[in-house]
Amino acid sequence: MQEYIIKSEIGSSRILVGESLGNVKKYLPHNRVIIITDENVSSLFKDKFPGFPVITIGTGEKSKTIDTVSEITDEFIRLGVDRGSFILGIGGGVVCDITGFAASIFMRGLSFGYVSTTLLSQVDASVGGKTGVNYRGYKNMLGSFRQPEFVLCDTDMLKTLPEQDYRSGFAEVVKHGVIKDRELFNYLSNHLDEIENREISFLTKVVSNSIKIKAGVVRKDPTEQGYRRILNFGHTFGHAIESVFGLTHGESVSLGMIIASDISVKNGLLNKKEAGQIKKLLSDLNLIDQTKHDYARLASVIGKDKKKG
Ligand code: GLY
Repeated sequence: MQEYIIKSEIGSSRILVGESLGNVKKYLPHNRVIIITDENVSSLFKDKFPGFPVITIGTGEKSKTIDTVSEITDEFIRLGVDRGSFILGIGGGVVCDITGFAASIFMRGLSFGYVSTTLLSQVDASVGGKTGVNYRGYKNMLGSFRQPEFVLCDTDMLKTLPEQDYRSGFAEVVKHGVIKDRELFNYLSNHLDEIENREISFLTKVVSNSIKIKAGVVRKDPTEQGYRRILNFGHTFGHAIESVFGLTHGESVSLGMIIASDISVKNGLLNKKEAGQIKKLLSDLNLIDQTKHDYARLASVIGKDKKKG
């Protein structure tokens, strides 16, 4: 098991890679705990949950709304949650983002932690203290910065993750490689079989290396005053693509990274060979299926049409 600590002005967070849901009780500070999860995670893993009240939300990005936060708030009130309660999110990115947000605003802030169940949330969403929901089509428009007390990344769960979700998570790992760690980037390029076979020891190493990079950035700039923006590589275009075309987060960010790389080449910040390597790896990971997406149309819709200069 690998442990990372993030200490910052928005709280302190302990991240444990390779720890399992079955051990979560060890990390809960006391017994006044409320669990938030979604329908999928509940149907797969409920028998492993510790015995506390559970609030179950709908699945997917469509549930990441202020209405869901309102429903959670009603449940908090019904269950007698107060400032001494602890909120545990068990799920992927949507569950983690919404749990952190609901906990951070209820009675001006409760303690919370996560068991992170998807690759995307383990390498990105659950780590770093960004919480939030979408609003009127704008991604993460409402949110807060507040660190979860702990994040358990149960890498065994990646074995049963639906293929599309599994692939989607790799976009954020590639991003970490591109922005900070050529060795991680090359490691992914040279281990496509292990990715395909979902080898747990390999995945634990990849998740761990990815979190190490993200934690290093977040420690320096927890509230994104500047430096943390490096983690948004591919996301400006990616979020627009995700909102307009409804692709997965990973597919959208992958296209966003390709567009950003092209722009970087034009500005002399990246050479053509490196941009080609990024595109090839994303393609090898089935994140940019040219037959599925009309890339030219995407580029033109988001204002990158050559005719516009
Ligand atoms: N997902 C980007 C960040 O946490 O800053």
